Amino acid sequence: MAKLKTTYFCSNCGNESPKWMGRCPACGEWGSMVEEVVRKESASKMGDTRSFESVKSHPQTLGEIRAEQEPRIDMHDEEFNRVLGGGLVPASLVLIGGEPGIGKSTLVLQTMLKLGDIRTLYVSGEESARQLKLRADRLGITNENCLIVCETNLDEIFKHIRNTSPQLVIIDSIQTVYSELLESSPGSISQVRECAASVLKFAKQSGTPVILIGHITKEGSIAGPKVLEHIVDTVLQFEGDQHYMYRILRSIKNRFGSTSELGIYEMTPSGLREVSNPSELLLTQNHEGLSGAVISAVIEGVRPFLIETQALVSTAAYGGNPQRSATGFDIRRMNMLLAVLEKRAGFKLAQKDVFLNIAGGLRVNDPGMDLAVISSILSSSLDMAVERETCLTGEVGLSGEIRPVNRIEQRITEAEKLGFSRIVVPANNLKGFKSKVKIEIEPVKKVSDAFRMLF
Ligand code: TYD
Ligand code: MG
Repeated sequence: MAKLKTTYFCSNCGNESPKWMGRCPACGEWGSMVEEVVRKESASKMGDTRSFESVKSHPQTLGEIRAEQEPRIDMHDEEFNRVLGGGLVPASLVLIGGEPGIGKSTLVLQTMLKLGDIRTLYVSGEESARQLKLRADRLGITNENCLIVCETNLDEIFKHIRNTSPQLVIIDSIQTVYSELLESSPGSISQVRECAASVLKFAKQSGTPVILIGHITKEGSIAGPKVLEHIVDTVLQFEGDQHYMYRILRSIKNRFGSTSELGIYEMTPSGLREVSNPSELLLTQNHEGLSGAVISAVIEGVRPFLIETQALVSTAAYGGNPQRSATGFDIRRMNMLLAVLEKRAGFKLAQKDVFLNIAGGLRVNDPGMDLAVISSILSSSLDMAVERETCLTGEVGLSGEIRPVNRIEQRITEAEKLGFSRIVVPANNLKGFKSKVKIEIEPVKKVSDAFRMLF
């Protein structure tokens, strides 16, 4: 029997190497090289056999290239359109990654059903046609222009595409698709890479946009979207906490738009609902007079919203090691804020348990959240409530100084819109700031200034 040709791929970055190595030379990850079987002739033959339709290319001058832009496809979903940078670009390859069960299939199916007269083909390798039908019934939308096929063989998928000539193709998921030219199993790095590369070629040559779905696991991915990130035009991540109903669609890479965009959805029994005003949802509970709860004006993506942070500080039980835990906020950042509180404001928290929670299961990366976090910890520690009419924004530096945040006007306007009467902001943000808002603006330079104002 002829010896099978094998090669090694880094499961972290997809780097290929003829021999095994303990450490990937490209990304520096240890123990990430995995063996993959490749058919000997595949590398040279693959290019012409599996391509969708070969077109001869010829060099042109820039002047000869036509630059008029084809209109983007309107996804009939404001959040989705925004994250894509204003709709789906023709001939683009979009990857939607996320943990299993988060709602990726629901998102693409409902978007596709809402597309109206655009012919779409949904290729499912994960669910049966019956399951998809049940899901569509649950969503309550019907559309005669949507075709469903359950198939995992790449050549067969291309055949279906040729026969139905759809205007949008969805493949759910890329980990289930395989090419017969490779011997490795579906979901392996080489299969995922090769299938994605073929689909990319199809998208570019036919002008048809393709949406790929990819799973990532909690431990980071094996043959997951990481490997694909370099191949595709746009990477969107669908995330959220399974126990909460909010889902966030985040743009991680986008050749046709900004990566700071964010789409917010709510998972309901009848599909995903667009959340156009997140603040109202995140501020529903009334915690008047409760210590430890503080509202912050943050910016995620380019959208401002107000979010509640809750802290609970209590004496460490039985004199053991104090516990520190944070949900929705970086725990290292919280520890830094605790150190600032101790060193710059003189509050001793070394023997205290500190628990922090951001409302709604959202994960906030905006440093403007710092001031609210540090104030909520102090509020709980002192058992003194912060006025419900006040919200805060500001980054906290190591010396206890309040550093300026971006888009201050947007934050202030959002707070005013939601009926807050006072907002605490970094003093440095107000240089040359002119605005006709009615909300009372309180500039602060140091954490101690803010504490004096709040407590
Ligand atoms: P799914 O789209 O299958 O996730 P993924 O494709 O990312 O693996 O979504 C799975 C979850 O969504 C499942 O637990 C049920 C829930 N769900 C709803 O709550 N409402 C709905 O209308 C639908 C279709 C699903
Ligand atoms: Mg799915």
